[in-house]
Formats: sequence, structure tokens, C-alpha cells
Amino acid sequence: MNLEEVLKALPADAAEAVVELNFSQPFLRALGFEYQEMVPQFPVGRRAVDHAARKNVGEDTFLTSYQNPYLYMEVKGRTENLSDINHPDYRRAALQLKHYLLSPESKSVHWGLLTNSIHVQLFRKHGKVVHPVTPCLPITGDLRRIVKDIKQRIDKPRRALIVAIYNNKGGVGKTTTTLNLAATLALLKKRVLIVDFDPNQSDLGDALNLKPLKGKILEVLKSKEPATRDIITPYKFEHPRLKESLGFDIILADEDLISELDEARFKQQVKFHALRRSLEIVQDDYDYILIDSPPNWRIFAQKALCAADVVLIPARHDNLHSLQNAGTAITQFIPEAQAKRCEVGDAGPIALPIFMNNAFRETGPQVHLMHQAIAKIIKDARRNSSGFDLTPYFYPKNRRGHENRKMITIPYMAYISRADFMHMPAAFAFKPAREQYLNLVKEYFL
Ligand SMILES: Nc1ncnc2c1ncn2[C@@H]1O[C@H](COP(=O)(O)OP(=O)(O)OP(=O)(O)O)[C@@H](O)[C@H]1O
Ligand SMILES: [Mg+2]
Repeated sequence: MNLEEVLKALPADAAEAVVELNFSQPFLRALGFEYQEMVPQFPVGRRAVDHAARKNVGEDTFLTSYQNPYLYMEVKGRTENLSDINHPDYRRAALQLKHYLLSPESKSVHWGLLTNSIHVQLFRKHGKVVHPVTPCLPITGDLRRIVKDIKQRIDKPRRALIVAIYNNKGGVGKTTTTLNLAATLALLKKRVLIVDFDPNQSDLGDALNLKPLKGKILEVLKSKEPATRDIITPYKFEHPRLKESLGFDIILADEDLISELDEARFKQQVKFHALRRSLEIVQDDYDYILIDSPPNWRIFAQKALCAADVVLIPARHDNLHSLQNAGTAITQFIPEAQAKRCEVGDAGPIALPIFMNNAFRETGPQVHLMHQAIAKIIKDARRNSSGFDLTPYFYPKNRRGHENRKMITIPYMAYISRADFMHMPAAFAFKPAREQYLNLVKEYFL
């Protein structure tokens, strides 16, 4: 039976085992995998994912070797709701798939599919990050188009993860984080591009003593065939104890973006997804593209989030507004950006857990006040945003039944602000700062 016939024959309330038995293999076959390139009930740790797949290479047959799986597929029954990302069914299933993808045995796996044969969604794994690359697609109507869309993505994986660094509260460390993450990833031999998308301040270029561009970004953003490579400036740092110079690339802020256009004309001339499209041109040249965003929810911040796969949100222990705004970004702004991306058949961005920048080292009354404030933010979000649970975003190590209020942090460090005056990333200049950012990189990315 081909896929259409299989779908017609499946009862409306088919249970998980029935879907798995009838639908999984025809669907994987439609995606281009042969019978010997798929393994049902593929062991991952002490459990098993419903299907794993990988192209055979010469004599190496996946069905017999079980080595180097490339894609996992987790299957649910037809009555489970996989179309509403806020539904408990969906959340449970997506979390389960993420768990399989991040297991130590799954190093070679790039992709995860979640399906109940009514909807399907594709997730990508990049280092430690799992993020959706398609919306929950209904498996009806133009089946061939859905299969083609997924197949194209898994056949040609894009290299870079695009990360927007955002909080609409000012001065929480967005620019500092962008710069030092780039430096730390460069130290780990990753190719990194940073984008200054805060033209009102152009702090990122300033931090490296580089002059803003004039007029070039606007040209790229307006163009149907953006010449993104032409607006990239390399930044090099000569480390006294290393033979080779370290560095990363940067797209500097463009002064003309604010001097020439008011917001209404900017919106008219520059398409909503222009930044994403311009970055896709260079996405295979880098491992990470980091976008520094402005402290508001206006056009540049909106475009920065819409261009990203994931959003990294710094906040501050001692600043209530930065904590509240972090919550608002997750419950309102990021879903707005997701809806925009959905309009063009894409998914994303999703929020990474919030981290506390400038964090106190000691546990004092201020820390107690902060936890109290966060408890209220979590409670309000639950009430106002239809049950949205912010707990894992503030306390990523918390597990049901095992309360853990440990947060991801970068402490206050004089080295970090001192490096500003020296016009260089603290992670390059000072070992203690480097160690802190290395922890951050390990926490989120590697
Ligand atoms: N962990 C830290 N320890 C010490 N100083 C820090 C730390 N993080 C940031 N700073 C300092 O705080 C100031 C504000 O940081 P930064 O400019 O990165 O914030 P921002 O969120 O980008 O601000 P804006 O909203 O204006 O764009 C800078 O002077 C920076 O050097
Ligand atoms: Mg900034």
C-alpha cells in the first residue's frame, strides 16, 4: 500500500501501536529510506524510540549494524493532540523526543519526527539544542508537498544555529553576552558570525572599536538576492600565547537604517523575513550566528527574533523588570514571532532557559526576594497565558517532585566591564571571564 492508501485505511481513533505498525514505514519510505535503512523500536538507553533511520553506506546496512542513526521518529496514537503546542499531549511527546535526541547514544542523530499520522513535525538537533524546523503540519490535502518539504530539509541540513540574544529591558548584558559567546565559541574552533541589529546604539561594533556601516545592510535587506557576504567584516584578536590569531565575523550596525527611514517606510521597503533570508545565504559558512537585539519590541527586535532558531534571554537577579520582561518575551513576543514564521511554512524561534547575568555570588535577602518575584511571574503567566508554565525557563534543572531552584548564571565580574574599555571581548582577554562563558556555552550549546 502507498501512503495515501495507508492513511485512508487507518481508523480515526487508531492507537499508537496501530499507527506505528501501519504508518511508520510507508512514511519513512516516502522520505526516501529503504526497508533496510529503518529499525523499529530502536534502543536509546533503557528505552526505545519508535523508529530510527539512516541511509546505508556501501556494505554497512543500518538494519543489521544499528550504527550511526540519522533520524528518529516518535509515533503517537491518533487521539493524541499533536497540533496544539500548548496541549499536554504535545508537550509530553515533544519532551520525550527531545530526551531521545539528547541521549548520549544519539550523537549521530540530526533529526526527530513527531507524528500521530494526522500531524507531523520535524525537529532539528544542533549540539545540545533541539528546535522545531516545521510547524505541526497536517497530514492531509497535499501529502506530496509535506513529504517534499521534510525530505528537502533532512537531505540538506543547514550548518549554523541562529541565536537571537534578547530582553526588552535595557542594560542586562545582551551585547556583552553576544560578544563573549562569539569569542568563547571561536576559542572552541567554531565558526561564528555576530550581527549587530541594534542600529540605534551600534554597541557591538563599538565594543570592538569598529565603525558602523553606511547604507549597506539596507541594500542587502531590500534585495531579492542579498549579497550578505559583502557586508561581513572579520574581527581578529592576536593572543600573545597562541600562534594563530583568534576571531569571528561581524555584520556591523548600519547607521542609515535609522537615519534614512522611519519605521513605517522601513516596514514598507524591507520584507518581514528579510533578515532571516539574508542570513540563510551564509548559514552554511558558520556553526553559530548570534544576533544582538535592541531593548524594545519594535521592528528591529521583531525581525531579529523572526530570524532566529532560538532566543537566549539574559536577565538580572536585582532587576525586577528584567525578570518580568523575560517572562513576557516567552509568553508573548516569541509566540508572535512563531506565528509570523508559521505564515511562511517555517517554525521557530523557541526560548532557551533564561540566564542571570551580573548574578550575586552569595545567597542573601536579595536572592530570596528574586525567587519570590519569579514565583509571582510564574503564577501570573499560568493564569493569564492559558496555563503557560514558565518554571522550566527560570529553573531548567527543576523536575516534578524534586524542586531545584538552581539557575544558569554569569556572575558580576569586573573583568567583563573592564574589557569594554579595552575594546576586546573579556573571554579573549581574561581567563576567569573565559571560564564563566565556557560554562555558559556548555550549559546551552555543547
Ligand atoms: N557579568 C557582568 N559583569 C560585569 N559587568 C557586566 C556584566 N555583563 C554586562 N556588564 C556590563 O553591563 C553594561 C551593560 O551591558 P550590555 O551593554 O551588554 O547590556 P545590553 O543589554 O546590551 O544593553 P542595551 O539594552 O542598552 O543594548 C556594560 O557596561 C557591560 O560591560
Ligand atoms: Mg546592547
